[in-house]
Amino acid sequence: MSDSPSQPILPHAPQHVAIIMDGNGRWALKRGLPRLAGHKAGTENLRRIIKACVEFGVRYLTLYAFSTENWGRPKEEVLGLMRILEDVIDHELKELHEQGVQIRHIGKLEQLPAFLQEKVRGALQTTRNNQKLTINIALNYGGRDEIIHAVQQMIRDGVPAESVDSEVVSRYLYTAGVPDPDLIIRTSGELRISNFLIWQAAYSEWYVTPTYWPDFDREEFLRALQEFAQRDRRFGRVKSAEYEGKNG
Ligand code: FPP
Repeated sequence: MSDSPSQPILPHAPQHVAIIMDGNGRWALKRGLPRLAGHKAGTENLRRIIKACVEFGVRYLTLYAFSTENWGRPKEEVLGLMRILEDVIDHELKELHEQGVQIRHIGKLEQLPAFLQEKVRGALQTTRNNQKLTINIALNYGGRDEIIHAVQQMIRDGVPAESVDSEVVSRYLYTAGVPDPDLIIRTSGELRISNFLIWQAAYSEWYVTPTYWPDFDREEFLRALQEFAQRDRRFGRVKSAEYEGKNG
């Protein structure tokens, strides 16, 4: 038996993965179940993917839980989703805290029902010093709303126009201090950004799959990360080797 340390499954994991967890409703419909059953199954799946993030060394995970546009859904679904989120905090917080997960919130907390605001604030407070994995929950979040909020705050703070650059804007976003996502995963096959991290996604890589979110398992997550590891990220530039080939 070799005494050399075992190879990690994924030597080059993305630092930050963001997920649009889409397809819960269709997953439920296909099984003749109410839509909320799909959201419950989606929540169960989340537990698996959080574990996989810790296993594969992902440091930041951003989850699109509820958008500023989702208020337009039927009342029962909106309230049902809020109750599911409350339930997740009640039942999963202890384990997440033990796993070293830090919970952050992005979006407008003050517009959420009081019972949920209180739970979210408690989760942020409990986990604030954890370092293993940071989970940003996008709850009542919209990318345009985030940019409007940032501009308003810059004006209130009297930031001089000439000093506004990308770094300043990034510092005024809800995601301040979090690196931009390296990889964005969208389940259920839709090819759109849906107002998610529209500033931060400027150079993110995408992985889109027809799989509905409740069925997106550890194996497919690993495939997404492996595919990411093969991508050639140029950030708008050319590879230096190509440049030297032509000019050197
Ligand atoms: C999109 O599916 C999913 C949502 C709007 C909600 C996602 C929320 C959860 C999985 C709950 C748990 C989340 C956290 C962070 C604890 P859809 O309803 O749009 O599906 P459809 O397009 O098939 O109708």
